[in-house]
Amino acid sequence: AKRMPKDRGLDNTLTIMKEGYEYIQNRTKKFNSNVFETRVLGGKQAVVISGKQAAELFYDNDKIERSGTLPPRVVKTLFGKGAIHTTTGKKHIDRKALFMSLMTDENLTYLRKLTRNYWFQNTQRMQLMDEVNVYKESIILLTKVGFRWAGIIETPENIEQHAMDMDKMIDSFGAIGSPYKGYREAKKARARVEDFLEEQIIKTRKGKIHPEPGSALYEFSHWEDMNGKPMDSRLCSVDLMNVIRPLVAINRFVAYGVLAMHEFPGERTRVARDDNDYAYKFVQEVRRYYPFVPFLPGKAAKNIEFDGYKIKKDTMIILDVFGTLHREDTFSEPERFNPYRFDNWDGSPFDLIPQGGGDYHTNHRCAGEWMTIIIMEETMKYFAQEINYDVPPQDFTVDRTKLPGRVKSGMIINNVRLNIDRT
Ligand code: HEM
Repeated sequence: AKRMPKDRGLDNTLTIMKEGYEYIQNRTKKFNSNVFETRVLGGKQAVVISGKQAAELFYDNDKIERSGTLPPRVVKTLFGKGAIHTTTGKKHIDRKALFMSLMTDENLTYLRKLTRNYWFQNTQRMQLMDEVNVYKESIILLTKVGFRWAGIIETPENIEQHAMDMDKMIDSFGAIGSPYKGYREAKKARARVEDFLEEQIIKTRKGKIHPEPGSALYEFSHWEDMNGKPMDSRLCSVDLMNVIRPLVAINRFVAYGVLAMHEFPGERTRVARDDNDYAYKFVQEVRRYYPFVPFLPGKAAKNIEFDGYKIKKDTMIILDVFGTLHREDTFSEPERFNPYRFDNWDGSPFDLIPQGGGDYHTNHRCAGEWMTIIIMEETMKYFAQEINYDVPPQDFTVDRTKLPGRVKSGMIINNVRLNIDRT
């Protein structure tokens, strides 16, 4: 058998934190290999796999086990105890169907409308501001869209509090295995939002409040599992939050998109014209090009093989997400921002994997990928068509060595004005 290339060191967790999105790329390039061995999280052996074939292997449920592989701290702050992400087998498929049942044409069309309306409503506020930090501004706006879409009624002040709390949880994923300073804060933030959502669920069950059928609050509250049992109210609140919290994370893509329209000549004009679904392709390219999810953990469910190497059962397997989006053999000229590449894309479930790959119903692939694309399309069209603005000097750096990725300045715009011809 061939000997697998190996990144030396007893525990490379700190190196990963230091090199961020580039850690894997640096090694796959150095070893000229789609696979290498490393040690992480206190010296555990792990095999990193990269590329389209790697994604195909990773989403083969017979070969790769996902449950029990997420760092406990990430589960406690980001996803919540018992979250869908941590389930496996029949239980996962059963509950995933609940998430996917929300993604009807009607619900997605409503989401489009809400996104447009909230940005429109928010315009006057942005016109009154000296400067708008797009990253921060979208946190609250997206939370409003998310609550409304999910059928949850809450005052604007409370929504702002929930938005800040959920943003804290998202930031906590920078803490892969290492001590995270905001850990306790993030846990408290999670408890606050879980309390609130649990109360909403209990009230819905008792008929004290009346979310519309088809909304997430209604469907989660009344859902029964394959054994005919409703969800425990706390668990229900955890997973209901797994529908809303990730919407807030779209703020990172929003800032990236506004940056791309500023940074790359002609993009804003082309998004505004939206010929041949240009806004859609632009959004796909934003999700591919800019760093967000670095990699995903799993473990070998049995003895397996990849690229001619043997991998033993129970070995930790790390799928290179960011690197797969930036490989010459998956996307040609990967460092060029080029939405037209999606003109001829075959829609493979294994190459454009910023939100995971494989099948929505049987794999852990992101339940909210269509929601993300829709929110981004409407938001980018809004910035390109409905308003004009200036972009003052600022630090546009997107540091690929820092997890999670973001535009350093947050993406600042000013002098927001309406783009209406009234002559
Ligand atoms: C799962 C990324 C937005 C709901 C995932 C996974 C990733 C991801 C990488 C895990 C894939 C895997 O383990 O194989 C993102 C990113 C988003 C986003 C980058 C945008 C910023 C959303 C939205 C929703 C959502 C808007 C709202 C419904 C979920 C759920 C899962 C998930 C419920 C768990 C699915 C499962 O375990 O089967 N997401 N997501 N995400 N995402 Fe998203």
